Order: sequence, then C-alpha cells, then structure tokens
Amino acid sequence: MAEGKKEKRTGDGGPSEKVPAVNVMKSSTGPVHAAKGKSSDKDQEGPDTMPRTLQFPPDGTGMTAVERTEEPSSSKVIVNTDGPVAEAVPLDLEKENRSKRPSPVKRFGDSLRSILTKPEREVHLRKVAKRMDDPKKDLEEGVELMESLELGDKNVKVDIYLNPVTNEYIYHPIEPTLGPRQKKILEFIRETLSQSLNYDRMAMEGLQEKERFLKNELDIILQDYRSVVGGVTTEFMEPIRYHVWREYIGYGKIQCLMKDQGVEDISCDGTGIPVFVYHRNFGSIRTTIKFESDDELEGFVVSLAQRAGKTISVAHPILDSTLPEGHRLNATFGREVTTRGSSFTIRKFKEDPLTITDLVKFGTISPQMAAHFWLAVQYGDSMIFAGGTASGKTATMNATSIFIPTSAKIISIEDTREVNLPHQNWIAGLTRGSAEGGRETDIDMYQLLRAALRQRPEYVLVGEVRGKETMTMFQAMATGHITYSTMHADSVKSIVYRLENPPISIPRVLIQALNLVAIHNQLRVKGMRVRRITELVEIVGIEPTSLEIITNRVYRWEGNGDHFVFGGHSNLYEKIMDMEDMTRDEVIHELNRRSEVIEWMLKNDVRKFTDVSKVIVEYYEDSDKVIKLIRENRDIDIKKGLRLFDNAPVEKLPSASKEALPPYTTADKSSQPPIGQAPPNAGGG
Ligand SMILES: Nc1ncnc2c1ncn2[C@@H]1O[C@H](COP(=O)(O)OP(=O)(O)O)[C@@H](O)[C@H]1O
Ligand SMILES: [Mg+2]
Repeated sequence: MAEGKKEKRTGDGGPSEKVPAVNVMKSSTGPVHAAKGKSSDKDQEGPDTMPRTLQFPPDGTGMTAVERTEEPSSSKVIVNTDGPVAEAVPLDLEKENRSKRPSPVKRFGDSLRSILTKPEREVHLRKVAKRMDDPKKDLEEGVELMESLELGDKNVKVDIYLNPVTNEYIYHPIEPTLGPRQKKILEFIRETLSQSLNYDRMAMEGLQEKERFLKNELDIILQDYRSVVGGVTTEFMEPIRYHVWREYIGYGKIQCLMKDQGVEDISCDGTGIPVFVYHRNFGSIRTTIKFESDDELEGFVVSLAQRAGKTISVAHPILDSTLPEGHRLNATFGREVTTRGSSFTIRKFKEDPLTITDLVKFGTISPQMAAHFWLAVQYGDSMIFAGGTASGKTATMNATSIFIPTSAKIISIEDTREVNLPHQNWIAGLTRGSAEGGRETDIDMYQLLRAALRQRPEYVLVGEVRGKETMTMFQAMATGHITYSTMHADSVKSIVYRLENPPISIPRVLIQALNLVAIHNQLRVKGMRVRRITELVEIVGIEPTSLEIITNRVYRWEGNGDHFVFGGHSNLYEKIMDMEDMTRDEVIHELNRRSEVIEWMLKNDVRKFTDVSKVIVEYYEDSDKVIKLIRENRDIDIKKGLRLFDNAPVEKLPSASKEALPPYTTADKSSQPPIGQAPPNAGGG
C-alpha cells in the first residue's frame, strides 16, 4: 500500500538513506491521526503530555526520519530522528512539539509505563504471558497426552490429556506463542488500533469486509514499525497477526473452541472457572481456558452480545440470541442473577450436522428404523420427535429430513437456526424477537407458520412446538401438508396430554392427523452416555366409541442387549401398499433394500450430509442402479463425491419386485431380527 512512496532517512543508517516506504498518515481511520482532529490538539497540551500519536514499543534500535511525499503539505509527517518514539504531527506543530518532547529515554519509559499502569492492560499482559509462554502451563502434573486434534488451521491445534487420577479428560488448545518482543509489538498494535479503529465499522460490516479492514490497518502499522525499527520478518509477524485477528475478528480466548467442529456446546459458568465444552468425541470435557477476572469476563460477554446485535448490561442481564454464524447464545451479566459471575453458553450451529449414518453408528436407531424413516418421509407421514432437553430430537428431525425428495418444497420455522438441509427448494424461516417478547416488531412461530403455509410447502419443519403455532401445524397436517416438529415430552401419552391441554388445546380428532412419534432418551449403556430412540409409535386413529387414541408401536428399544425390537406391523406398509399397489412382501422387500443402503453407507463411512444426500438422490432416481452398485461393492471414493454412481454403466436389474434378493441379514442377527419374521409382541399402547 505504501509502495512507491518516498521518504528520507537519517539516524544510524546515515542521512538520506532510502528505506521501505512508510505510510504513517493514511486516513482518518488509520493508525495515526496527529495531523487531524483531537490528537493534534492534545499534542499542544503541555510538555508532559504524551502525544497521542504513533508510539513504537521501546525495543527498536535506530529511528528514522520519514518524509511522506504524497500527503498534503499540511499533514506532512515527520518521524523524529533522535529517539525510539516516532510520531506524526502536522507541520505547524512539529517544531513546537519537538521542543516539548521529553527525552527519548523518558518517552521510552513513559510509553511502556502507560501500557503497564492501566490495570486491565496489566492483567491482560500477564495473562497473555502466562498462556503463551509454556504450552503446558495450565495443566496439572501427571496428565497424559491422549490425542492431538488438527483443526484445519495451521495456527491452532488441540491436545487432549487424561488425568489418570481423576480419570478426567482435559481439552488443551495450543495457539502460537509469542516471545517477549512479539508481546510488546502486540501490545503496541492493540494500543494503536484502539486509537484508530473505527469500532462502528467493525461492528457493522460483514466478516470479509472486517478482515480486509483489519488487515489494512495492520499492514499500515507494521509497515511503519518495520521501517522504523526494522528486523521484523514475516515469520516473526505471523503469530502476532494471528493474535490480532483472534482478538478483533475471531472469538478471542474461545476461538479454537469455535473452530473445532467437534465442539458442540461451550459453557462458561463464571469467573475463574474453567470453560467446559461438549465434544462430539469426548462428551463433556474441561478446557484449560479460564476468564480470570470479572472485568475480563464481563467484557467478553458484552462483546458476544454485540456480535449478536444485542446488548447486555446490569439493567438487562439476561440474553437469548443468535450469533452471526447461527450459533445460539445464552448469557447472563454480572453477579446479580448468576452469583459466580457472568456466564455464557454457546450452542454451535452445525455446518456438518449429524446424519442418518451417524444416528445408526451411535446406535440411536437401527438400519431398519432408518429405512422406516426413509419410507415414512417419502410416503408423507407427519412426525413429532419427542424427548427431553438435548435428547437429540432436533438432530433426528434434521437427519430424517434428508430423505425428503430432492425437489419438494420445504419450509422450516425455528427460533434458533438448527435445521440444515442440502435441498435447494427450501425456505429457512427464523423468528425475530427479544427474550422478553411482546414487541410490535417481533415475529413469532405462529405468524411465521401462517405465512409459510400461504407459500404452499409440501414439507413443513417446525423447530419446537409449544404454543398456539401447534394448532396451526395440526391444521396444516389435516389439510395435507407433511409436518415435522420436535416437542418436549417423554412418551406418547404425555404428548397427547400436552396437545389436548392449554395452552395448546387441540381437539382429539385433529391429533389423528399425526402419523408417527419418535421418543428420544438419553441413557447409560455400559457406563456410557448414549442417545436412543426408545420407541417409534404410530398414531393409528381414534376408537369410535371410547374415543381412545389407537397407537401402534413399530419399534421399541430394549435395554437388555441394547437393541431394537420390531413390533411386527406398521400402518405405513398399508399406506404404501395402497399408494403403490404393492403387496406387503414387496413393501418389506423395499424396506430391506433401503436398510441395505444405510448399512452400506455405514460400512463405507458415508456420513457427511452432502454425501448421504447424494446417495439418496441417486436412489430416488434409480434405486436398482444404486442397489446393484453397492452389492458389487464397487470401490467408491466418497471424497470425489459419488461420481461413480453417475458414470458407471449399469446393467439394469429386472425390476425391484421380481429381483432375486438374497435373504436379508443384518450385521447383528441377534439384535435385529429380519423384518417379516417379527416377534409376536406387535402393537403398543
Ligand atoms: N443420536 C445422537 N447421538 C449423539 N449425539 C447426539 C445425538 N443426537 C443429538 N446429539 C447431540 O446432542 C446435542 C443435543 O442435540 P439436539 O438434537 O439439539 O437435542 P434436542 O433438540 O433434543 O434438545 C447436540 O449437540 C447433538 O449434536
Ligand atoms: Mg432441539
């Protein structure tokens, strides 16, 4: 940016020696403002006042005199020739200032003192030093390194340690360390940026814009620094750049937690308490990150709120909002409502959500249940995914929705962005409002849902139903829309109870419109915390005389042996038999074929939702082709997509129904009896 600009240099380099260009006076948002506005006034205040201009950290050696040739003459920049502090002052002030300036040594000291005497700065500096110097500093003794995670960013990695005494895992992020000189430069950059950065601009614009803006600022500062102090190579600057980026663009201390795709939730419960995360592979795990003081944590929570476009303060100490990347943010401010200090929880939006393959892999459902969902989605069952908090309702809803045929029109409605689909024809609706609600500008689930239905969607996904939107959803179901939603309830009985009673109050006849309910549970199996769909229940109808709701339990989970048991019958089969003019055997045959596809995906680790989606799309297009390919177990490189599926010339199978199918067996016969030879305990409630 400063290329082509000329300057003169005196000092230890000798007079008039050419050095790299310096751009000290860039703009009103640049790092130096001496020529304009307040700072120049300040410069005149008196001999003891430090000029609020460019102050280099004191470890530079030779200083330079720099004359900028492209600036208007009134803002010509002079860098002092006799000391380590460079400053930019307008010409008319230059002379005066020079006489007022304290000696280099004094200023050198002042500059450092001014940094160190600010209490927050001091704390910060010490902390930075602590975290960066020794990568194992925050770890207790005797811990054993278990695993290192790469996060796809050369600057950060994570070590997972085990404390053999407490049998506890520890999440230990490692970021670039800074040497003493680098720390001073970082501090200098902070100081300079705090004077120059246009915070409104930083807050308003998009990420890319922000990054460019910061990079520019940084380049200018470093250019200045380099030309004055010298000796700063790119490698030397790299870690500093990372830390500046982390502070102004990234998520500061928790940046690597935000970066790690495996981290699902982040919670900070107060000052001085380790931040905990929920990790896909390690469960709930303590990190070595801590907010050491109330000030630091409060500042951080305020900055999180700002990112979410909200405010949090003593007057409004509770926040429920969404961060720009879609992560859900809950936070409290101060010690009044949460006595251990400010707190925050971030539930991360999954760019890479759990897929049906994951659910089978984790044992949440069996391959046949996945196939059942597949048919249920295709043949228009409306479903409710029920369970307790964090039992996996939303995850299953999302994973199941991947079966929605490619071009079907989908509308989703949520409070917090969680649903993530590969479909093109999908409108993702999000409510708008404050935690307190009731503002005129708020848009709630009910309003959104009604608006959505006017757009004639085939599939409607409602994040979580609680209030009057539920009635609208059931009306939509009754008028032929296929709806999925989650609900906080632990059994079919309690779902029906909640639906029929205030505030929802749905008449029983409408409840019949619902077809399938999946009950989620978090359980312990062999000491491990797992999630299981413990029941998959169909709503069959209403008994005409007693008005009882008739249900059919299609699958149930059995704790003894951790397996699923097929109930022997499903209403869905009859529906498909009607719709497709198939026999029951043909339907079951089809179910088994899909089950086979699911198992193939499991075996070949086809788990990314875009990849899973490809297989399903292919299956909808030509199921025989897919079945044939997977039976031949072609070597398919999923990284390249499923291109082989597209290209491979396939000899057609005679037809799905006539095809001679080898008897279907599951991976584990004992746990999953083949469908069609069901145990006698059919039916449920
Ligand atoms: N079947 C599962 N197995 C393992 N982890 C799961 C499963 N389902 C969900 N999760 C994880 O559990 C957390 C809560 O899941 P979510 O679907 O949001 O729960 P709910 O909607 O019931 O509150 C998420 O971090 C998610 O990734
Ligand atoms: Mg949920």
